[in-house]
Amino acid sequence: MKNEVKNEVKNICCLGAGYVGGPSMAIIAEKCLEIKVTVVDLSEERIKKWNDENIENLPVYEPGLGEIISKRRNKNLFFSTDIKSAIKSADMIFIAVNTPTKNEGFGAGFASDLTWIESSARQIEEYAEGHTIVIEKSTVPVKTASIIQTLLDSKKNISVNAKNKTFTVLSSPEFLAEGSAINDLRFPDRILLGGDDEFAIKALKDIYKKWIPEEKILVTNLWSSELSKLVANSFLAQRISSINSISALCEVTGAKINEISQSIGSDKRIGNKFLKPGPGFGGSCFQKDILNLVYLCRYYGLDEVANYWEQIINLNNWQRKRISKLIVEKLLNTVNLKKIVILGFSYKPNTNDTRESAAIYICKDLIDNGAKLLIHDPQTTPSQIEKDLCRKQSLNIDEEINGCWTHTNDINLASFKSDAIVILTEWDAYKNLDWITLTNLMRKPSWIFDTRSIIELHQIEKADVNYWGIGK
Ligand code: UDX
Ligand code: UDX
Repeated sequence: MKNEVKNEVKNICCLGAGYVGGPSMAIIAEKCLEIKVTVVDLSEERIKKWNDENIENLPVYEPGLGEIISKRRNKNLFFSTDIKSAIKSADMIFIAVNTPTKNEGFGAGFASDLTWIESSARQIEEYAEGHTIVIEKSTVPVKTASIIQTLLDSKKNISVNAKNKTFTVLSSPEFLAEGSAINDLRFPDRILLGGDDEFAIKALKDIYKKWIPEEKILVTNLWSSELSKLVANSFLAQRISSINSISALCEVTGAKINEISQSIGSDKRIGNKFLKPGPGFGGSCFQKDILNLVYLCRYYGLDEVANYWEQIINLNNWQRKRISKLIVEKLLNTVNLKKIVILGFSYKPNTNDTRESAAIYICKDLIDNGAKLLIHDPQTTPSQIEKDLCRKQSLNIDEEINGCWTHTNDINLASFKSDAIVILTEWDAYKNLDWITLTNLMRKPSWIFDTRSIIELHQIEKADVNYWGIGK
């Protein structure tokens, strides 16, 4: 039975059971035992995985998530494809569907595709009953809330049924980072609530107050809330492009990037986070959100501002390419027919997510240059790699001529007669490998390319191998 009291929430529904919707609703269910939380998704396959008895089969790999799901699933946390009834009984609905960069049409390559936000709003409009608070969780361009509100109110004046429905739209973007999502959700730096309906704001605040100190809950207007998410991600990505640009300068001058990060990071005004150089940032957010910001700035005629932020993406693309090129150069200007072991394919450790991973770009470059890749990753499946590389896996790489890849679970076996090992993701499993044994198995002259600075020089001092470390 739907709760009609405006600010007392008993039933929550979330549209989109992805990397954001799944974990963030699991935490609400964990912290608010009296609220029934239903996460719905169009994809039957995804929902089936969320309901799988074997917790190892959840569609999202995130440390600590399985435990919460085991405790709350089918108690006050439900995963379903029955979108209609979940919307119907919800007092509060989170929209956490994907908002990828548009591939075609106006704004292609920059603007966010709001198709799924719009279809979510239409579904809510159709099935909701009584008063419903609708919350944008997905990252969206500024002013999306007004689009959602327009869709929700679209039949107000023409349909008898619609007259009993009322909606308030709030923005509450999610700041979790994958791999540390559970900790980020339990102990966030801040929660952002954007909107001007004080009842709705109070209702949402009351939920977060169950586990988050009130002073960390910031209330802003809708547009500041929407824009803050884009700006936060752009600032974070900007730091990575900045440090990556300096990594290249270190390599030609003899300065060491880790020493630079430490020295500038000790300045409290700069701070020591997000100063790790790497092969370029990945993930579903940074690139998409900057492109979105660039698009918005151009739309409002702020070309200089747009060009400024676009440069972060250009530098990121350049960093990936720079690494592919230097691998080829160091391997005597050709990787044709050479066996190269790739350690790490996800865009960061502790996630099975590969969206925009630098590994995709670097592996494609190496394959295009004729290399035979043996790819290892603790969580990414061969079928995911196949999709990302747009190329089928070769089951017998030795028989293939050139330009191919295979998945491997055995780093030692893969290293046998290989020419290079390239570390692309800093999984813990790679930090203490027995480099002497591994490099003894390799063909000489052999190379290690450490794009994440995880190897301490003493670990390979006695190994017969050439070493390239980022910014060193
Ligand atoms: C989220 C945000 O929502 C996005 O805006 C942000 O920038 C990145 O994080 P994420 O959870 O990572 O997206 O996306 P994804 O894992 O793709 O999950 C979205 C889910 O929504 C998918 O399972 C998809 O099937 C589902 N979906 C999509 C619906 O249920 N209905 C739709 O209409 C569209
Ligand atoms: C990011 C934001 O951190 C998060 O607040 C937002 O909600 C979603 O986008 P996420 O993309 O999951 O989270 O991970 P993050 O830890 O930010 O890493 C993004 C990329 O930057 C990764 O590829 C990572 O390897 C890279 N990175 C990060 C660096 O190269 N150096 C660093 O110092 C930090």
